[in-house]
Amino acid sequence: MAGRFRKFIDKFSFNKEKILVTGGLGYIGSHTVVELIQSGFEVIIVDNLSNSNIDVIKGIEKITDIKPKFENIDCSDYVAMDKFLSKNEGIQAIIHFAALKAVGDSVKRPLPYYRNNIGSMIALLELMQTHKIPNLVFSSSCTVYGQADKMPVNENTPIKLAQSPYGNTKQICEEIITDALTANSTLKGILLRYFNPIGAHPSAYIGENPNGVPENLVPYIVQTAAGIREKLSVFGNDYNTPDGTCIRDYINVVDLAQAHIAALKRLIDGKVESIEVFNLGTGEGTSVLELINKFEQATGVKVPYEMAPRRAGDIEAIWADPQRANKILKWKTEVSLEDTLLSAWNWQRYTMDKENSAKRHFNFLSMS
Ligand code: UD1
Repeated sequence: MAGRFRKFIDKFSFNKEKILVTGGLGYIGSHTVVELIQSGFEVIIVDNLSNSNIDVIKGIEKITDIKPKFENIDCSDYVAMDKFLSKNEGIQAIIHFAALKAVGDSVKRPLPYYRNNIGSMIALLELMQTHKIPNLVFSSSCTVYGQADKMPVNENTPIKLAQSPYGNTKQICEEIITDALTANSTLKGILLRYFNPIGAHPSAYIGENPNGVPENLVPYIVQTAAGIREKLSVFGNDYNTPDGTCIRDYINVVDLAQAHIAALKRLIDGKVESIEVFNLGTGEGTSVLELINKFEQATGVKVPYEMAPRRAGDIEAIWADPQRANKILKWKTEVSLEDTLLSAWNWQRYTMDKENSAKRHFNFLSMS
């Protein structure tokens, strides 16, 4: 739709459903914001920019022609969130992404994970009651299964001991939500257990751009391919898997974002009695070495790597049985792993082009 026409429509649609997205400038949050806007929702973002960047808003605007409302708030700050929600009445649902999320880092620094992830969850649930916000979509993770005995895992697979403080915060948050929603019949929720989200929007205007050295595999791969990092460390090649490296279910981030729209519509349509859980994955497992090979094949770019010791907190192998989401949410993944890896690479190149042209502009200004 042409930009001006889109803005006109946006300005005069008064009956759009208002959705609050916490962590909406983060990786999965920003892709979900784009899908929400394109599905006709009004989006409000709160984000404390701890692992994101204000420029993400420009990327969202480039794709959708709409600049969503944004406030820099830490959602574990009850008072600030209370004030913010008093100014923004009529929110239909919260999609809660804002959280710390690195497995290895959480083993080294557990307390910020507990304070932030659990503190914000409790604050939001209390505020949902005060401000009469009826629906919640929670960004959970397959990490809640711990190391499951049988693959693939479905939603009835027993929850084992969490392997990391990060995993534990997701388990605890799921329990807190379940208790809060069971006790209050006006609140409804969906827990989405993501497997491993990777890739970027096909426009390359938004993608995964962690602050500092990347903790996750694909951002590290693309930065190594781009020459920003010297070598990728493969954490452990002595696991009980065919090539000795860990196995994950890598899911395209836009596919993942679209599952949030399906979940949200199910909540708003009143189809959820209290709380529902869905696995979001492809159903395929890929090892770290296979992923590096696929990246090299898809992009034609080499990724220098070396074997390194295991990373504390890692699960050996996990992949999803996504049938419940396929059936009930009428959702499934569409984008191939190769195209997903290519989208991550395109995003990296776009980011570098942008930085280089900013540098050129700066040099030009300082010379003139
Ligand atoms: C975990 C969760 C995932 C969540 C993510 C958030 C599991 C199974 N998955 O992902 O749902 O979205 O946290 O961060 O718990 N690796 C290397 N070298 C690196 C980086 C990673 O070899 O430099 C390896 C890891 O050891 C792991 C795999 O790559 O085997 C994936 O790691 P990562 O991308 O960090 O995601 P998970 O920790 O699996």
